[in-house]
Amino acid sequence: MNLTLKIWRQAGPKAKGEMVTYQVTDISPDMSFLEMLDVLNEDLNAKGEEPIAFDSDCREGICGMCGLMISGKAHGPEVTTTCQLHMRSFHDGDEITIEPWRADAFPVIKDLVVDRSAFDRLIQAGGFISVNTGAAPEAHSVPVPKPRADRAFDAAKCIGCGACVAACPNASAMLFLGAKVTHLGEFPQGQPERSARVVKMLTQHDLEGFGGCTNIGECTNACPKEIQQDVINQLNIDLRHALQQMT
Ligand code: SF4
Ligand code: FES
Repeated sequence: MNLTLKIWRQAGPKAKGEMVTYQVTDISPDMSFLEMLDVLNEDLNAKGEEPIAFDSDCREGICGMCGLMISGKAHGPEVTTTCQLHMRSFHDGDEITIEPWRADAFPVIKDLVVDRSAFDRLIQAGGFISVNTGAAPEAHSVPVPKPRADRAFDAAKCIGCGACVAACPNASAMLFLGAKVTHLGEFPQGQPERSARVVKMLTQHDLEGFGGCTNIGECTNACPKEIQQDVINQLNIDLRHALQQMT
C-alpha cells in the first residue's frame, strides 16, 4: 500500500507544532501501525531528517504506551491498541492523520509523545492497598466470592493507556479512575481505605486538570480493554458513601 500521512510534529513542550505530510510506500497490510511508522522513521533517518518521536514498549497490547490519535480516533479505526492495529484496516491511497493525545492533563513532550504522569499521580493519591508484607498468607484465609473476583479482574484489565481521556470531549479520566476504584473496592483487603481512596483520587483528578464526566460514553467506546461505564457508577456510589461518612 502507498499512503499519505499527516503527522503532528512538535520539537518540544513549548514549541509550536504543525501537521507535516509524508508519503510511505510498499506498506504490507500485515504490518502493525507502529511498524509502518518504523518504516517511515528508517526512511527519515536515511535522509538525515529528524525521525518522528512516538511511544511504544511491549507492542503486545499490554503496557498502554502507544496511544495515538489516528484520523480523529483514539488508537484508530479498530477498538484496540495502536500496536495491535494492523495496516489491513486501511486501504491503498488512504490519507491518515496522526496526532498525540489531546488533553491539558497530558501535555505534549515531543511530536506524538505526551506526558501521562498525571495517571501515576492519581495512583499515588490512593490507587493502592496498604498491607503489612511478610510471609504469603494461606490462599483460602481471605475468601473472595467469584462474582466479586470476576468484577475486580474485569476492572483490573485497564492498562492506563489514556484513550478514554483522549476520546472524551471533557478530557475526563473517570473511566480510568472508576476502573481502579472498582478493582480495589471489590476485595476485602480494599475496604479499610475505600472511602479515603475515592476522595483522594478524585481530588487529584481535578487538580490534574481532567474534566468531569457527563455520561457521553466515548471513553468506553475507545477503551481497548472494554472497561464499562458501570465503573463510573461505582465511583459515584463510593464517593457518596465517603461524603456521608464525612458529614
Ligand atoms: S479505562 Fe480503558 S481507555 Fe482508559 S486508560 Fe484504562 S484501558 Fe485505557
Ligand atoms: S506498545 Fe504496549 S500496549 Fe502498545
